[in-house]
Amino acid sequence: MADKTLDNLFHDTLKDIYYAERKILKSLPKMARAAQSPELKAAFEKHKEQTEGQIERLQQVFEIIGKAPRGKTCDAIEGILAEGDEIMEEYKDTPALDAGLLAAAQAVEHYEITRYGTLKRWALVLNLKDAAALLDETLQEESQTDEDLTSIADTAVNAEALSSAA
Ligand SMILES: [Fe+2]
Ligand SMILES: [Fe+2]
Repeated sequence: MADKTLDNLFHDTLKDIYYAERKILKSLPKMARAAQSPELKAAFEKHKEQTEGQIERLQQVFEIIGKAPRGKTCDAIEGILAEGDEIMEEYKDTPALDAGLLAAAQAVEHYEITRYGTLKRWALVLNLKDAAALLDETLQEESQTDEDLTSIADTAVNAEALSSAA
């Protein structure tokens, strides 16, 4: 077996998050449609736009390392999104739907934050400064999205989920 190094790990993890981002892009409009709170709906719509830009940044990173942009099945995101689908089904038309959707979205953001955090650090070690800057830009967006979702939970969603009338 050939030796595998950090370059391989970086490339494989890039494929993982590329796959994940494209899955997320497909899932966000569904989540926006399902959301009852206008704030949450708007947050999902905004993040869909951002996700398109994040996919373009990943394509630039592939280009920097001289590889074609290709995804590799990411079981983690499949599982997180499947849980989100389950919530949409099981909590449809209930006051708790938005709280569940929001929690599912934050699980997605946290997965992305861990991946981009790792990739950025590896890019620095591999002396890929431009790649590190691109990955950091997305990392900041994901962190901001996570914070925005927390404030929507606190102001618009969680209290609503307590009420018995939808
Ligand atoms: Fe993303
Ligand atoms: Fe995200």
